[in-house]
Amino acid sequence: MVNATVTHADWLAAARTLPPGSIDMLYADPPFNTGTAQRTPPGAAAAGRGVFAAYEDSWPSTGEWVAWLRDRVRATLPALKPSANVLIHVDWRASHHARLLLDELFGADRFVNHLVWSYGLGGSSPRRFARKHDDILYYCVDPDRYWFEAPRVPATSAKMKGQMKKATDVLEIASLNNMAAERTGYPTQKPLDLLRTLVGACCPPGGTVLDPCCGSGTTLVAACGLGRRAIGFDASAEAAALAERRVRESDAKFPTGSA
Ligand SMILES: C[S@@+](CC[C@H](N)C(=O)[O-])C[C@H]1O[C@@H](n2cnc3c(N)ncnc32)[C@H](O)[C@@H]1O
Repeated sequence: MVNATVTHADWLAAARTLPPGSIDMLYADPPFNTGTAQRTPPGAAAAGRGVFAAYEDSWPSTGEWVAWLRDRVRATLPALKPSANVLIHVDWRASHHARLLLDELFGADRFVNHLVWSYGLGGSSPRRFARKHDDILYYCVDPDRYWFEAPRVPATSAKMKGQMKKATDVLEIASLNNMAAERTGYPTQKPLDLLRTLVGACCPPGGTVLDPCCGSGTTLVAACGLGRRAIGFDASAEAAALAERRVRESDAKFPTGSA
């Protein structure tokens, strides 16, 4: 049975409605302040992926983006359990600012990992190394109590061939190509494999994951499939409707716990 709720709302207002101490994992993939509106990629549109959407992604200054994020993470703090994990997904434009902000809000001693999502696909430049990763900043509420289960990935060394080993802080997971079956057409949609890895590692079975910028609902689908509860917010009505539909459809295909 679907164990997810999706609300069309600003993260700030919706965070204030959460019961205190109710969230095991906060994963937020907010707009990165790229300076341009994010739209359905032309390739995905051409491939006929149902949704054509856009959301604004620009702030007058980096300081205003940081203030926007500060207000929202701060408003969510009372809802976090002492054992909770917080993962904020950003990129090269924002990660150094977000890291300082999270040090300020949680304390530098609550830093757990700077995860690198190495996604491979996309173009390159003759003027620099190709930018092929996002940054996921992982903090805990209480260093003695946070829940963590290391994901397992296939070992690459000749000595451990055929065996599994604990994942490192570099997650090699391909981004979605335009023909991927899970592609909805929603701009900046993340792969289910990435979110399954993060949820499986950072939210206990039966726990509750909050994604306050849920977009197409990837986190919610991953969480429900892994037997976690999920709460999503999004300021875009189109995104909230899509996320709700996706959760419902995935539950019909993969009943809870089978992903
Ligand atoms: C990077 S996208 C998230 C993509 C998502 N992870 C996925 O896999 O589809 C960021 C989302 O944040 C939403 N957003 C922007 N401002 C917001 C706000 N103040 N409160 C809640 N959501 C917001 C946008 O509408 C957009 O859907």
